[in-house]
Amino acid sequence: MALITWNKRYSVNIDVIDKQHMKLIELINDLNEAMKERKTKEILLNTILRLSDYTVSHFQYEEKLFKEYNYPETEKHKKEHDLFIKKVDEFKHGFDSGELMLSVDIITFLMEWLVNHIQITDKKYISLFHEKGLK
Ligand code: FEO
Repeated sequence: MALITWNKRYSVNIDVIDKQHMKLIELINDLNEAMKERKTKEILLNTILRLSDYTVSHFQYEEKLFKEYNYPETEKHKKEHDLFIKKVDEFKHGFDSGELMLSVDIITFLMEWLVNHIQITDKKYISLFHEKGLK
């Protein structure tokens, strides 16, 4: 069973970004499933890498739009992105080196961070993005 399922309250009412957020939720769910099923370290690491890569590309997508639209909250928003990438990187390296185990706490942190970020921080750009014609 998925740890979390998509809910319309997570929507930013912009199709392409909602799809990216859905994919991120799916990847965290995949990681949770892989942990519960006690998959091999190789499979777990591969799942972590997919999540990490997709997170970076999603953040880059948003930040490219911030630049294009001169979004006034860019710096604050980007700081949140950078901090999350740093956390995921630390986790990825810790897991790869054997210093850190995958745990319910880590997965809960990832999921809670993501849904909070979407609902609080991402939602702040909706009106500007809509003004610019993104739907
Ligand atoms: Fe959708 Fe700011 O991450």
